[in-house]
Amino acid sequence: MQILLTGGAGYIGSHTIIELDKAGHSVVVVDNLSNSCEESVRRVSEIIGKPIPFIKADVRDAAAMDSIFKSYKIGAVIHFAGLKAVGESVAKPLEYYENNLNATFVLVNAMRNNGVKNIIFSSSATVYGNPAVIPITESCPKGECTNPYGKTKSMLEEVLSDVQKADPEWNVVLLRYFNPIGAHQSGRIGENPNGIPNNLMPYITQVAVGRRPELGVFGNDYDTPDGTGVRDYIHVCDLAAGHVSALQAIERKCGLAIYNLGTGHGYSVLDVVKAFEKVNGVKVPYSIKPRRAGDIATCYCNPAKAKAELGWEAKFGIEEMCRDSWNWQKNNPKGYEG
Ligand code: NAD
Ligand code: UD1
Repeated sequence: MQILLTGGAGYIGSHTIIELDKAGHSVVVVDNLSNSCEESVRRVSEIIGKPIPFIKADVRDAAAMDSIFKSYKIGAVIHFAGLKAVGESVAKPLEYYENNLNATFVLVNAMRNNGVKNIIFSSSATVYGNPAVIPITESCPKGECTNPYGKTKSMLEEVLSDVQKADPEWNVVLLRYFNPIGAHQSGRIGENPNGIPNNLMPYITQVAVGRRPELGVFGNDYDTPDGTGVRDYIHVCDLAAGHVSALQAIERKCGLAIYNLGTGHGYSVLDVVKAFEKVNGVKVPYSIKPRRAGDIATCYCNPAKAKAELGWEAKFGIEEMCRDSWNWQKNNPKGYEG
């Protein structure tokens, strides 16, 4: 099947191209490069040994999207495009609502006008808020999101569910990602955050490579085994493979389906620091800082539904995640810029 990846030049999208190619799918990528660069697509093309059709366009541009659907025989869309920085979303709520919601409205409208009714949407564990139950299953109620970014994910889940309800020919798969880290084993593509990283792993790798003096650990007084926050880290290549499995659900005409994509294991901040140091033989100096506003103590999933229904489960452990994150960072100390 030919798959359109919106936001396909980004971190998760670029890795997903490789998994789709392995499974025999072809891709078309549309991205406005607001948080990425075409170099990632060029490198993926090198890895898979094939050219990748790339359109530099904004998903909010209705004419551009219509022309993509008219030019290619798209069977399904994987919708990665969106702004994702939590802190920035608090400072710039309008930009986040405008980009994430409008891009999805324009996309879904273009899909409908062109008879493409299969979509996989990048959602997030953030929709569970402070989870009612741990490990989190898909039947856990959604919770209160503390920031505009998370609210856009939660709202868009509702929008897409309603689209599917109104027209049952639609197949909508909502994938709730836990915490993607790691990079492709080639070390050629990986996460390339702009400015100071918000997330734990890119911060650790930038400390290890000497770009930042130390990691701040946000709180050691949570109700967790060592007091630091516990999360379900998942290797980005496993996450990418989850999208290929989700396409099987679409091929089976799943209607609306929701899956957690995580490993089911929780690791604390200090567990990750220690694993990173041990696997890579580098030091990660850190100091304890106050809690970060909006953070929760523990978040990990029960991934049994994806295994039972999609035959998907994560293969990589925390060691491989740490090894591959470092392999990417040390080979590309300034990301794609050099
Ligand atoms: P990313 O920023 O690397 O990729 C998103 C891509 O979308 C970027 O290349 C950006 O240029 C593009 N984009 C943004 N707005 C666009 C628009 N209007 N038109 C065209 N392109 C646009 O982020 P990622 O980590 O690869 O995340 C992919 C998706 O998964 C996002 O929707 C994100 O919110 C979601 N997600 C990510 C995480 C995570 O931890 N990385 C966790 C849960 C969910
Ligand atoms: C963040 C987002 C969440 C998003 C998720 C996956 C916030 C508040 N939430 O969640 O919406 O779905 O990423 O992309 O940003 N930590 C440190 N020092 C750091 C960075 C992080 O101690 O410099 C800690 C955090 O307190 C947390 C853990 O590391 O306990 C993981 O943090 P992070 O990588 O930002 O992910 P989440 O908080 O799970």
